[in-house]
Amino acid sequence: MKLLLPLVVLGCATGILAGVYTDRFLQQYEKIHNSANGYFSQDGIPYHSVETLMCEAPDHGHETTSEAYSYFIWLEAMHGAITGDFQTFNDAWDIMEKYMIPTHADQPTNSFYNPSSPATYAAEMDTPNDYPSPIDSSVPVGQDPIFQELTTAYGTEDIYGMHWLQDVDNVYGFGDAPGVCEGGPGTPGPSYINTFQRGPEESVWRTIPQPTCDSFKYGGTNGFLDLFTGDSNYAKQWKYTNAPDADARAIQGAYWASQWAAAAGQSSQISATLEKAAKLGDYLRYALFDKYFKQVGECFDPHSCPGGSGKNSAHYLLSWYYAWGGATDTSAGWAWRIGDGSAHFGYQNPLTAWALANEPSLKPKGATAVQDWTQSLERQLELYAYVQTAEGAFAGGVTNTWKGRYDQPPSNLTSNTFYGMVYDWEPVYHDPPSNRWYGMQGWSTDRLAQYYYVTGDVKAQATLDKWVAWLLPNLKFDGDDYQLPANLEWQGVPNAYSGGEAQENSNLHVTITDFTNDVGTAAGTARTLAYYAAKTGNTEAKDAAKKLLDGMWNLYQTDKGVSSPEVREDYNRFTEPVYVPSGWTGTYPNGDTIQSGITFIDIRSFLKEDPDWPKVEAYINGGSAPEFTYHRFWAQSDVALAQGAYGLLFDE
Ligand SMILES: *[C@@H]1O[C@H](CO)[C@@H](O)[C@H](O)[C@H]1NC(C)=O
Repeated sequence: MKLLLPLVVLGCATGILAGVYTDRFLQQYEKIHNSANGYFSQDGIPYHSVETLMCEAPDHGHETTSEAYSYFIWLEAMHGAITGDFQTFNDAWDIMEKYMIPTHADQPTNSFYNPSSPATYAAEMDTPNDYPSPIDSSVPVGQDPIFQELTTAYGTEDIYGMHWLQDVDNVYGFGDAPGVCEGGPGTPGPSYINTFQRGPEESVWRTIPQPTCDSFKYGGTNGFLDLFTGDSNYAKQWKYTNAPDADARAIQGAYWASQWAAAAGQSSQISATLEKAAKLGDYLRYALFDKYFKQVGECFDPHSCPGGSGKNSAHYLLSWYYAWGGATDTSAGWAWRIGDGSAHFGYQNPLTAWALANEPSLKPKGATAVQDWTQSLERQLELYAYVQTAEGAFAGGVTNTWKGRYDQPPSNLTSNTFYGMVYDWEPVYHDPPSNRWYGMQGWSTDRLAQYYYVTGDVKAQATLDKWVAWLLPNLKFDGDDYQLPANLEWQGVPNAYSGGEAQENSNLHVTITDFTNDVGTAAGTARTLAYYAAKTGNTEAKDAAKKLLDGMWNLYQTDKGVSSPEVREDYNRFTEPVYVPSGWTGTYPNGDTIQSGITFIDIRSFLKEDPDWPKVEAYINGGSAPEFTYHRFWAQSDVALAQGAYGLLFDE
């Protein structure tokens, strides 16, 4: 790690660390911040992508995600390391807090929450056509063991966590701006929004976007509620979903800010922000619990599997979400909270778990938070071992709730459980399978490698050694050209787990199905290799990182960033049917009708006004698949962060 000390000695607090790779960071940073390039809204909110016609997890480029905010925070932390100015790190956190953490007015009835009865059970179903899913109060749920200590620590019942999705330009028109419930199309400011609610087969192409505060102004008679949940009557309500990997990444950025600011003698400048990061980490513990706070382990029947008490409902892994909601009526209040019983290896962040348990400036105030994050770190490291294939790549994750309804799993999964949870090669979503994309490998190993770099933990090194040994022969270089895995397939199951961080999985295998030059995944991979090489001295890993960084830099410069073209064959799904129960009708704020027989584009007519729509239309009408050169905020930030990290680590 390059020492920042000389800057202070020279009395040059805003000096710039010069080097090829740190200079590249600054060049890319300038492109991202050049207002002509369109990365940010007028409020300073990072869009998911510069380009508006974009559909992957968000269905519009000018939506944003907690993921984008988390990259923004990390980007500004490194900007502090390289320029000595940490004010933009504080500013990024403030923008995130202002727009992506619901205010008290946005979650007004948490005081009615009963931690002995966190939520009423509703089964997840196999396909969207099986919804609405009836709520079922006969299924036992457990107790929420952290509510009281959080309330005591922070003097509020409100949750300090990011919602995951936001309609920054209010294109849907719900107008769920901070402090406003369904203000409608004219409402200034970003609008909270949500999508997925209908099980593992509900890809983005099959979702029905909905407001986070539902006052029945839009949608049908009961707003959007009865599309998802079957009940005898419906109350106006608010609800949010957290994406734990994003909150963990924001804390990871804050951890690095704490180290870099300390090295620059500027800790006091960011201490208030670090306190907020610690608080975010305190609430992030909701992700460590089973969905309905049921007992973790052998939970193979919804009725006989008991609700948990104390911490026996914690699996201690960063699961796919936590969520919370309640009534809008502040005089007839109720509120609910859920965790999630499924964890993907790709969401784990051992650096953040370690930092929350060990970094004094990031110590959460909750009475048992340090204990929980200490336990979580251990459990995360064990999960990597449990799902590591014989080749070295990481397969899927685990679940405490088979099929999202505590079903009996097949016997090939119950004979080799992980703390009583079963292996799942595609946790949470199946269209596409959640662990097909290679990007999850680079994302998660990057955090593992940073954890290893910081702590020198030999158990993490053993896991990384195996992963790097798998990856290196599968990186292809030809001059500046590079190829890395794009998609992966999985065979077999883990061996019986006997505890600890070492496991030989002779019967669990990976196959690479195709390769890519994608800059986002290349950046995450390069950073993994760089941190790994910086600690081990492995020159092959260091050279591979450098080749990826040089290759993307030399080949894929655009006026807005660094990006390579991609062909979107999946865009024929703009005309895919979206299931709506027959007889159900409703409307969007712009008048689009929701009813049986609609397609993806029918409920997003605003996309037909997009300058890129003709390319998609031509494809739908039989032309060739459209090509886009996207500037996703996360990927462009990742390019900057990978170049900068390499520069800081190797002083080059
Ligand atoms: C487990 O067995 C079922 C059949 O019961 C099979 O469909 C499934 O593919 C097996 N799982 C794995 C991961 O091999």
